[in-house]
Amino acid sequence: MPAHDIHSYSNPLESRVSHVELDLAVSFREKKLRGAATLSLAAAGKTLVLDTRDLIILRVNGADSGFALGPPDKFLGSPLTIQLPPGARSVVVEYETSPQASGLQWLEPAQTAGKQHPFLFTQSQAIHARSWIPIQDSPGVRVTYSARINAPLPLTPLMSARIVRPGHFHLAHPVPPYLIALAVGELQFKALSKRCGVWAEPSVLGKAAREFEDTEKMVQAAESLYGAYRWGRYDLLVLPPSFPLGGMENPCLTFATPTVIAGDKSLVSLVAHELAHSWSGNLVTNSTWRDFWLNEGFTTYIERRIQEVLYGRRRSEMEFAIETGELNEEMKGLPAADQKLAIDLTGRDPDDGVTGVPYVKGALLLRRLEEKYGRQRFDAWIRSYFDHFAFQSISSDEFVAFLAKSFPGENVDAWLHQPGLPPDAPRIQYDFGTSPTHAWSTQEWLHWLRAQPADLTPARMSEMDQRWDFTRSGNSEIAAQWLLMAIRAGYQPAYARLEQFLVEVGRRKFVKPLFEALVKTAEGKARAEAIYKKARPGYHPITQTAVDAILR
Ligand code: BES
Ligand code: ZN
Repeated sequence: MPAHDIHSYSNPLESRVSHVELDLAVSFREKKLRGAATLSLAAAGKTLVLDTRDLIILRVNGADSGFALGPPDKFLGSPLTIQLPPGARSVVVEYETSPQASGLQWLEPAQTAGKQHPFLFTQSQAIHARSWIPIQDSPGVRVTYSARINAPLPLTPLMSARIVRPGHFHLAHPVPPYLIALAVGELQFKALSKRCGVWAEPSVLGKAAREFEDTEKMVQAAESLYGAYRWGRYDLLVLPPSFPLGGMENPCLTFATPTVIAGDKSLVSLVAHELAHSWSGNLVTNSTWRDFWLNEGFTTYIERRIQEVLYGRRRSEMEFAIETGELNEEMKGLPAADQKLAIDLTGRDPDDGVTGVPYVKGALLLRRLEEKYGRQRFDAWIRSYFDHFAFQSISSDEFVAFLAKSFPGENVDAWLHQPGLPPDAPRIQYDFGTSPTHAWSTQEWLHWLRAQPADLTPARMSEMDQRWDFTRSGNSEIAAQWLLMAIRAGYQPAYARLEQFLVEVGRRKFVKPLFEALVKTAEGKARAEAIYKKARPGYHPITQTAVDAILR
């Protein structure tokens, strides 16, 4: 049963949507999707309340009477209340999106690799599906969906679903609305295995396929731990560099930033992460955003387990140790309430609750249970958890109750409801090298760079740069870390690269700390404003919101 969700106006306990049929045309000229959503109802009361945000509702059920659009809330959008006739089985909403839709990014040809054609992609998590589909936009309400997408030639539409035939899609498993996704661009496909492949712009496809060549092995590793992969295909879509995230676990088709294509597979744990969501998140989902850790904590833990199978324990422990260190640093600056796994998001956008806490504290809780009960028992428990709750959305309380069935007396209250790490938290050990060598992995370089003193002089930066060529690094993680240090040190030879990086890359994780560092001095603030003037039009709404808050 859907839980009460403070981030949705919908009324699933009275009337509930169970299937969505989309018929949409893509207009790049108007920056609009236009068409209809036919919503099938599994339960129908007197009214049906849907979530919308900046949608223009043209007609409902072929008439313009019988519905009302409420006033917009900053985070939640507007409720669309539809009067249902007795016995209603479905409703049809004809609508169009607005060019500012928070869940869509419309790219100019210049922002793509090929520079010839525009590009469109959606990002629905957490509550942006409502900006392109009128829907009960709560993770506790699962729907199946089908879609017909009319896109201009020669562009290819793709969705988080099975391709029935070009432009026609179907997802037969029920998913929360935040997993409905669409991308349209000049895209080509390359197979990696029978069920895995990569979609990308033609000029990116070859290197993307090489970078992600281990994908099938990752699926097999996850299956051997947690049971069959249930979604048919597992493909990756490489987006243009303005994609605001690292990755997004859209079913059948993970969306990924091109910034993980480092040339040496050093950043492919992102694929392990998004793939892991095929169990933790897409199969078993948090029923409200308060329990987001059920998605990301399990996923971060499973990401490490997949990584261990493919690349060895040393490598997975290294990444676990690094992220635990980062969590401890981050928590020093977080209010106590945000250090709990079950977070209070009252009055906030759920995107604001995204810190390392649900990810890494969540993963450490599972690691703690693994150590306490042993791998064999705990792996079997996780597998039974996925089978038991498959295709359901659950709360932390349901997790606790299911845990107690297998491990009587187990108490994880402190993890869920107290700030910081409990005294029983595992300590992940890893010995990092201290003198750089060309044999170092990306993660070792990052660890070493982050450990440099805060007061590096431009002269010392220059020495390091001459020795290791950081300013020209083709590895986005290393480049971003180096550019951060360049800002702090006032190291001018890196400024041109900094500007180029910020104008090209819109990944929030990189962009946000760089602007934060820039605004710390008057000179930096002026530069930040000049760069942002050029960069902002190319950023996704998610990244724009983050940087606007810094430069306001
Ligand atoms: N599902 C998340 C992305 C997300 C979280 C979108 C919250 C909107 C709201 C995805 O699985 C994720 O965690 N991506 C990470 C990369 C990952 C390797 C840690 C990212 O994009 O940084
Ligand atoms: Zn994730």
